[in-house]
Amino acid sequence: MSLVDEAKAVRENAHAPYSGFRVGAAVRGASGRIYLGCNVENAAYPEGTCAETGAVAAMVAAGETELTEVAIIADSPEPISPCGGCRQRLAELGGPDVTILMATLDGQRKTATLRELLPGAFARASLPRG
Ligand code: THU
Repeated sequence: MSLVDEAKAVRENAHAPYSGFRVGAAVRGASGRIYLGCNVENAAYPEGTCAETGAVAAMVAAGETELTEVAIIADSPEPISPCGGCRQRLAELGGPDVTILMATLDGQRKTATLRELLPGAFARASLPRG
C-alpha cells in the first residue's frame, strides 16, 4: 500500500467526536517501515492529539528516530498541512528536504518540504548542549 493509502486507512480509526474532522498520517522511517497515527480528541479539548503526533510517537516507540517521508489525509476542501506544533515534531526527526504529501479523500494532492513548512526552525543545534 502507498503511504497515502496507509494514512487513509488509519484515518478510519480517528477518535474525533468533537470536531467530526478525522485525520490520518503515515510516516516512513529510515528503515522503510511505515508508522501510522490518527487524531485522538478528548472531552478536555486541549488534550487532543493530532494524527501526525501519533505517527511520530509510534515511530519512536518502535525504535526509529529518523523519518524520510510523510503523508497526511483529511476530508477537507483542500489538502491540510500540519499544525505548527506538528511541524516542529516532524522537523525534530526529519531533515529539511523531507517531503510532506498532503491529500484529500477526493483525490487532491499537494506536497511541500519541511524546509518550506517550517523555515528557520528551532533545532537541537540551537541548544547549548546541541
Ligand atoms: N488535526 C490533525 O490531526 N492534524 C492536522 O494536521 C490538523 C488538525 C486534528 C486535530 C483535531 O482533532 C482536528 O484535526 C480538528 O482540528
